[in-house]
Amino acid sequence: MRVYELARELGVDSKEVLAQAEELGLELKTASSGLDDEGAELLRLAFSPEEETSSGLTEETEVPGDAGTTVSAEVDEEVDTTTEVAETAPGATAEPADIAIATITRGASVGVFAGAIGQDPGEVVKALLEMGIPAGVQQAMPEEKIDEIAERFGYIVEVVDEEPVPVVAEQPEFEDADADMSTRPPVVTVMGHVDHGKTTLLDTIRKARVVDDEEGGITQHIGAYQVDVNDRLITFVDTPGHEAFTALRARGANITDIVVLVVAADDGVMPQTIEAISHAKAAGVKMIVAVNKMDLPGADPLRVRTELTNHGVITEDLGGDVPTVEVSALNGDGVDDLLEVIDLIAQLEDYRANPKPEASGVVVEAQLEVGRGPVATVIVQRGTLHQGDAFVAGPISGRARAFMNDQGDRIDAAGPSTPVQIMGWADVPAAGDFFEVQKSDKEARRIAEERQQTQKSEARIAPSARDRLQGLLENLRSDDAQLNLIVKADAQGSLEALRESIAKIEREGGKIQIVHTAVGGISEHDVTLAEVTEAVIVGFNVRPEPKARRAAEEAGVEIRTYGIIYELLDEIEQMLVGQLAPDEEEVVLGTAEVRATFKVPRSGTIAGCYVIEGTVQRGAKARLLRDGVVIHDGVVSSLKRFKDDVREVQSGFECGMGFENYDDIKEGDHIEVYVVREVART
Ligand code: GTP
Ligand code: MG
Repeated sequence: MRVYELARELGVDSKEVLAQAEELGLELKTASSGLDDEGAELLRLAFSPEEETSSGLTEETEVPGDAGTTVSAEVDEEVDTTTEVAETAPGATAEPADIAIATITRGASVGVFAGAIGQDPGEVVKALLEMGIPAGVQQAMPEEKIDEIAERFGYIVEVVDEEPVPVVAEQPEFEDADADMSTRPPVVTVMGHVDHGKTTLLDTIRKARVVDDEEGGITQHIGAYQVDVNDRLITFVDTPGHEAFTALRARGANITDIVVLVVAADDGVMPQTIEAISHAKAAGVKMIVAVNKMDLPGADPLRVRTELTNHGVITEDLGGDVPTVEVSALNGDGVDDLLEVIDLIAQLEDYRANPKPEASGVVVEAQLEVGRGPVATVIVQRGTLHQGDAFVAGPISGRARAFMNDQGDRIDAAGPSTPVQIMGWADVPAAGDFFEVQKSDKEARRIAEERQQTQKSEARIAPSARDRLQGLLENLRSDDAQLNLIVKADAQGSLEALRESIAKIEREGGKIQIVHTAVGGISEHDVTLAEVTEAVIVGFNVRPEPKARRAAEEAGVEIRTYGIIYELLDEIEQMLVGQLAPDEEEVVLGTAEVRATFKVPRSGTIAGCYVIEGTVQRGAKARLLRDGVVIHDGVVSSLKRFKDDVREVQSGFECGMGFENYDDIKEGDHIEVYVVREVART
């Protein structure tokens, strides 16, 4: 069957089906693409109401229309208990017939857990104590003991994540009547490698000078602007690198319709070009390639297009479906063509929104300004913002006392796809927060307060990397789901080898999708990309930067690093069959930066270090990292404070450190100190 036929059957837009298909890794291009039975079944499942897909695509469609509140006001209880008797197959022997099933929310207290399994809280406290865990009735129920204790009392307990009142109110899907919809301008994000000319291009498009105002010529903030093409508007978003785009995506706010990928014709495809491609693909948005700097003698547009094919971007002239325009942002050549192409896509896609209701949208940028207080750029996505409207974005409320368009002119109404700078916030909101007008100031404040409360308890319910991996694995076990990987390696050669070997790993019922590969250490970008694509990051001879490691811990992203290729392949295979049960866990104790090196007779090279995080310990294992790449893996054989040998040095202090039998240490290297602990198999 065809995509549009399935869409009709499901009562949704073809576009939604295509988006879901992409999320599921099905290769469908247009509404008339053909679908096999299996694919169709998968999509039906994904759209079936009870099915909680892990794709994140099916956010609840809460309270569409007039109410303006997308957040259910109260969470009646921490727990909802569903007790039912599971049936036992007639032939089953060993299993007792009366196992009951209960559901609790992650982080629920011991008391709540006891209630869910129909026991006196004292009984659970006692059981925990027997296991050596002293916990009160009010304390959070230790998750690793839930199964064991539940089983004792004849229960199976399912732990679910708390749903109500997300701190970042996710973008709800609104259902607007077709008759209310009007065409809106496309929202275009310009992405590409540093210095390939993003800002210059936008600048030329706006015929205003932005580059000149910028410190050092590097974009400091996201600006959002509108330009007029053939009497139709186009909204542009300029981003510093890709952080903003990714940050917005990571928080479920997809504001972009079209990505313009800027590639300098004299430089070709560079790391951030590849990153941008990965992001655009993950977001499932339209892409246009702008080959820039065509005025330079070294310009080689064919090389750019060929290089792009290596990253799955096939331009139209090479038989693909990605439009390409050759431009010079500097002298303006081809820029009109680019605008034409954008305009054409916009007309074909016919982006629409309902301008009638109260405004909602996304915060793209916010800061505190002297004399003006908190100011935020918001792109209205639906409805119309009016002067004086009360609103809430994430945990922050406000009132649109005054707002301005991209020219800095005060306006009193802003419809879909319009970027506006709004003053009148109680505090600075975060980029990516969903913005929503409320009926009254009071209502806006109430919602904001409620979210602040939830935020306080948020840490409690954040899933750990382990939970997340577990979830991914379960998903793989149960379905034809895929394992998403981000692969980082120390050299192009090893990356190629890995890519090929990984492609050969096959398992029935599961497939591997490599979301992104690159040479270099594991960065915060990788973690964010992993978060939005639900990927596991694997590193070969590379390590996460301290910032990336922290981000991964916070986001619950799994990072696995290896020094031996077959171990890496082995583990990927195990992940795929869902049997990965690590019995050793590595714990990083601390990281130190090498500030100077000294040759010491008999001891070899000693590194004068500054401990930037955690603690470093003598006798512990340590890796020497140069630009995130593992140069040496050994043992800390000497550790000194001034002249004294010490066992341990804390962060914020200087020390002298030496490796056992290893001397090639350079200024600027990082030393990561770690221990390996045994973890009980589960
Ligand atoms: P970041 O914001 O730092 O990521 O860079 P960017 O991609 O916004 O690049 P930007 O527009 O700041 O341009 C970088 C440099 O390239 C500037 O010196 C520009 O003058 C120059 N440049 C941009 N476009 C062109 C072009 O079409 N031709 C030539 N010759 N130079 C260009
Ligand atoms: Mg720029």
